Amino acid sequence: MDITPIALVLMTATSDHSPNPPLPYEGYVFAHQHLLGIADISEHDITYLLDRADAAVEISRQVEKKKVALRGRTQINLFFEASTRTQSSFELAGKRLGADVMNMSVGSSSVKKGETLIDTAMTLNAMRPDILVVRHQSAGATELLAQKVGCCVVNGGDGAHEHPTQALLDALTIRRHKGGIARKTVAICGDILHSRVARSNIMLLNALGARVRVIAPSTLLPAGVEQLGVEVFNRMEEGLPGCDVVMMLRLQRERMAGALIPSVREYFQFFGLDRKRLAMAEPDALVMHPGPMNRGVEISSDVADGAQSVIQEQVEMGVALRMAVMETLVERFDQINSTTGGQDD
Ligand code: CP
Repeated sequence: MDITPIALVLMTATSDHSPNPPLPYEGYVFAHQHLLGIADISEHDITYLLDRADAAVEISRQVEKKKVALRGRTQINLFFEASTRTQSSFELAGKRLGADVMNMSVGSSSVKKGETLIDTAMTLNAMRPDILVVRHQSAGATELLAQKVGCCVVNGGDGAHEHPTQALLDALTIRRHKGGIARKTVAICGDILHSRVARSNIMLLNALGARVRVIAPSTLLPAGVEQLGVEVFNRMEEGLPGCDVVMMLRLQRERMAGALIPSVREYFQFFGLDRKRLAMAEPDALVMHPGPMNRGVEISSDVADGAQSVIQEQVEMGVALRMAVMETLVERFDQINSTTGGQDD
């Protein structure tokens, strides 16, 4: 197991899986009102959230899953883009914490009548929510909104920018299987160019000391991707050997401006993860996918459902991780308000 000094302290501090683990080190404060991106938080913040999520996993596995941490609080999920996993797991997470949760259906809202994002947000803000979870097709939309409202804002995915809770739940899944993240080799494969999941994961995995590789055709890699601290490969056969984790991404065709791959069949032939290719990675390599999956495009069904796949476990970790995030943000918000009567960030 990889044990850096800070991880050792953290593991000692939280080994009892108590629902509210002690602060990870003397003087530590989670100093954010919002979770907008991995770029905004520190290694210690990440580890703190993962430790709290570990405790929330235990709660989610009990018959009685309810906590009272957010009792009487209001959570609004405002999703301008389609979502299965993120929206439902934020909803379940809020309910397990005792919050009143409202899912705002953008399809039948006044957004359809031309109302702006800010006007929609200000209207919801006037109803005094405690947490706003936002997914939007434009990069930066959640940050803009966070500047306007008086509650905690969580980014549920903004354009091709960031998806911080996905990266955190991925890290939680890896950490629970591998005992740590530092010095693990993680390959992120596929449409890196359009992927907010890839961006958030690259930042988080680097912050925790992983060796990060990206494997993709050059048309699906952002210019200057090496500067993000990754090793770049254009062939699965070159990038997979030695990998402890293989993270597959779907082709985000809704964000593609033109034909960036010759055909789906050819894409699978060269970049799809099948059993033969998976065998090139470490024998105990984890297979991950944030979903939604396109079977037969980036991953074969037998690998997606195989013994090395932790894809369903990622979904389970998502609920626990989102519980940890919302509990932490609201605690911080309450602290700020009790000491200053105002707001942070
Ligand atoms: N991983 C993810 O964001 O999935 P959804 O689009 O279903 O929320």
